[in-house]
Amino acid sequence: MRFDYQANSLEETKLLAAALAARLEAGTVVALDGDLGAGKTTFSQAIAAAMGVPGVVNSPTFTIIKEYEGRSLPLYHMDVYRLSLLEADELGLDDYFYGDGVTLVEWASLIEPMLPEERIAIYIETDGPAERTFRLTAYGRKYADWCAGLKENGL
Ligand SMILES: Nc1ncnc2c1ncn2[C@@H]1O[C@H](COP(=O)(O)OP(=O)(O)OP(=O)(O)O)[C@@H](O)[C@H]1O
Ligand SMILES: [Mg+2]
Repeated sequence: MRFDYQANSLEETKLLAAALAARLEAGTVVALDGDLGAGKTTFSQAIAAAMGVPGVVNSPTFTIIKEYEGRSLPLYHMDVYRLSLLEADELGLDDYFYGDGVTLVEWASLIEPMLPEERIAIYIETDGPAERTFRLTAYGRKYADWCAGLKENGL
């Protein structure tokens, strides 16, 4: 199941983030990809805000993994750009993926073999200075239902 969302502004990116955030639960994995500057961190920050994470959510490029407390769920924000598969393996990512919180992974396709089978993948395409296409692909029944729901809501 796939769903493409066109954002013509940062505000429209935040609308998609809020719609997704409303569905998040423990064990949700959102796999983010897209070129440098596409908006993976910006989208993650919008999800964090919608989850009620207080304060600043920075790019985890150098820290690899940052943990936050949302209103009702923890948030694990990762950027695996600088990780080798071996290093990723040593981090024990499954503890996050199958843990009590929501995991957002920037550059997720770099560790594709380690991602859980059930996840939602989002590829962000840059169409212009403020224009982005979010290409959602659902892996698993639950996320297919999410995509169908987002489609029906006209998002
Ligand atoms: N509609 C939009 N949605 C998301 N970001 C947007 C949008 N319009 C403009 N931007 C800008 O695009 C930039 C995206 O940068 P961001 O750091 O989020 O990208 P990234 O994909 O995380 O990059 P990196 O690969 O370096 O981690 C920000 O400066 C953001 O303000
Ligand atoms: Mg980033």
